[in-house]
Amino acid sequence: MLSVPFVTHAQTLDVMHWWTSASERSAANALAQAFNSHGLQWQDAAVEGGGGGAAVKVLKSRVLSGSPPAAAQIIGTMLTDWADMGLVLPLTRVAAQEAWKQQIFPEVLHLVTHKHQPIAVPLGIHRINSVLYQRTIFDKLEMPPPRDWAALEGVARRLRNAGITPIAWSDENWQVATVFEAVLLSYAGPELYERLVRARHPEAWLDRRVESALNRLRWLRDLNGPMQRQESNWIDNVKAFHAGRFGILMNGDWVRGELLALTGSSDSSSYCAPMPGTEGMHLYSIDTLSMLKGSMSKQSEQEKAAALLTSVTLQRSYNRVKGSVPVLKDIDPKLLDSCAHESWSTFANPRAHRVPSLAHRMAASEATKEAAAGVLQRFVLNRGVSAQQTQQQLAAVMRTLLKENSRK
Ligand code: BGC
Repeated sequence: MLSVPFVTHAQTLDVMHWWTSASERSAANALAQAFNSHGLQWQDAAVEGGGGGAAVKVLKSRVLSGSPPAAAQIIGTMLTDWADMGLVLPLTRVAAQEAWKQQIFPEVLHLVTHKHQPIAVPLGIHRINSVLYQRTIFDKLEMPPPRDWAALEGVARRLRNAGITPIAWSDENWQVATVFEAVLLSYAGPELYERLVRARHPEAWLDRRVESALNRLRWLRDLNGPMQRQESNWIDNVKAFHAGRFGILMNGDWVRGELLALTGSSDSSSYCAPMPGTEGMHLYSIDTLSMLKGSMSKQSEQEKAAALLTSVTLQRSYNRVKGSVPVLKDIDPKLLDSCAHESWSTFANPRAHRVPSLAHRMAASEATKEAAAGVLQRFVLNRGVSAQQTQQQLAAVMRTLLKENSRK
């Protein structure tokens, strides 16, 4: 632990993030409590909106107006962009003293390292290719969670025959993109997926396997029958799923955290399985907090806060409520519930394929993610747009990114 000067009153750090659902709030509270018990005061600056689109805009405007928060949920490629602009405090001292190299998964450390310096504290690993099946409904119909697309088709038919709306769907662009990337991983496989989302080969988006993934996305959207545009909030969808109004819930595993907040026990109300065709693969989104340089130096408090966040105890309590898994490589997975156990073990397995999320900024910039999510949303909402046209549009988005990257 970093040695810090004795403080007589709590030092305030304002923390900006987009954790506003019940489970996200309790996860943030776990962090805030750790701050409090070490003489730091977490001043909450949450901005509502799943996936963080709104929070990122507010953060940018605070930075532009010269009043950045002391810490912010900055994730994925945004980290390097912000570090390049000199806005982020390097955490080299903290990382050395807390032995991050020995403690944290190398892939995670790589993600938060820029120009040989750690620039964010990794908090937890979310799995995007995870699907939940409503346990009461599946038990009643005596159906196991499907493991491939044919089985999922059978399940959907049986749900409909039993008068149950198959899937908790939302047309919000980030939710469409979140489901799509897991479907894409299933159809493309990890090698092609990686090439696609890293945007090094825009023409790869014209591959037949991308077309199949798009068709499957439209199939999923159509499972509930004809539907008007429906941008349901992810939190409401979790509540409705919990109440037994839907059989299937597809989203990152933060939805598991939210179910836990509703039920008090993570495994009780759903079965969890990887997206069909993605067994042994981990499509990840990693939550990270960066410390921002402001006009007033709070460096010692920021370093103290950063040092707290990777402790084993805090990692366990935070990730349990959040639905994610610890970023630490030496934990006892038996302490995790079955779904988290599978996620952590897959991530920890060097032979498993770990691939980055596009929808959650792990692979491409905020602008690219927004553009791709917009294209996908138009595809599911507009029957007149074909899969091939959508592939062309996605290739164009990636071409722009490739140009941006080559200018850097
Ligand atoms: C974040 C999660 C959050 C989810 C829903 C993702 O981008 O990584 O921490 O729970 O969005 O808001």
